[in-house]
Amino acid sequence: MLPPAPAILPASDAAIAEAARLVASGQPVAMPTETVYGLAADATNAAAVARIYEAKGRPGFNPLIVHVADLAAAKLIGEFDDAALALAKAHWPGPLTLVVPHRADSGIAAIVTAGLPTIALRVPAHPAMQALLAATGKPLAAPSANASGKISATRAEHVTASLGARIALIIDGGPCVRGLESTIVAATGGPLRLLRRGPIEIDAAEDMRGIEAPGQLESHYAPGKPLRLDATEADPSEYHIGFGAIPGDDSLSPTGDLVEAAARLFDLLHKADAAPHPKIAVAPIPGEGLAAAIRDRLKRAAAPR
Ligand code: TXA
Ligand code: MG
Repeated sequence: MLPPAPAILPASDAAIAEAARLVASGQPVAMPTETVYGLAADATNAAAVARIYEAKGRPGFNPLIVHVADLAAAKLIGEFDDAALALAKAHWPGPLTLVVPHRADSGIAAIVTAGLPTIALRVPAHPAMQALLAATGKPLAAPSANASGKISATRAEHVTASLGARIALIIDGGPCVRGLESTIVAATGGPLRLLRRGPIEIDAAEDMRGIEAPGQLESHYAPGKPLRLDATEADPSEYHIGFGAIPGDDSLSPTGDLVEAAARLFDLLHKADAAPHPKIAVAPIPGEGLAAAIRDRLKRAAAPR
């Protein structure tokens, strides 16, 4: 017998009420955000958070991002210095995660931070995720809604394909407008450090030390087949993902628009993964900022495992 499929409900008041009921009962729910789909659970309930790790098959040492409704809610959980406050005010709600010192009295389950003295906080802009935060009144721990190490989900169908019957409910908010996970910046005293490139460009030195952002494993966002970068031409055995002047089998953006390319990246990786071709090739994505964030994801998708 096939396992039961998760319910997929278009975002609506009734759907959010059902999601809130599941969250209150300790279940994770897949939610759209402006970056990628997240698998959200009550961050104050250790068993609920453990179910996230279980559904994703994620290594237990990997800390999660906690989503809150606004800066006031974030300040109850983390300590914000002037630099952190300035960034929060400039970019929240939006695709920026701030790693700040964790307050001892936050009420966040220890499993969320995986033993780190810091915590990753984000105020999402997506109305469905904001509605769930309001309906539950809880901070929500939410990693990307994909099996650990696999391609992130930017559509409800991707979540079904990756996590399927391991979760009870997916709220379908359509394709994610940003399509790349949030930029992560650490503001823990001393100079700001960029832990993960993302939709927001931050003027800070990059610091990808594994212990600080243990989710940044070399092989990540992994399709099920080899992926070749900077491919101006492709072999018939390769599904070619194009960009700009290079059309490919399908294109991240025929006009070379980086915002469009970021929003389509994971969708095209899923499509390439499902294509009959045994390999994938991706056209060069030149440029800085968002282009560098896209190249970072592609480099990890191409890493040997
Ligand atoms: O856009 C996003 O950020 C999405 C949506 C759902 O919000 N979430 C997301 O979560 O990408 P996840 O779990 O796939 O990635 C979170 C990253 C991981 O690399 C993790 O190691 C890092 O954040 N992280 C979490 N807490 C941290 C901390 N205290 N210090 C350093 N890195 C941390
Ligand atoms: Mg992820």
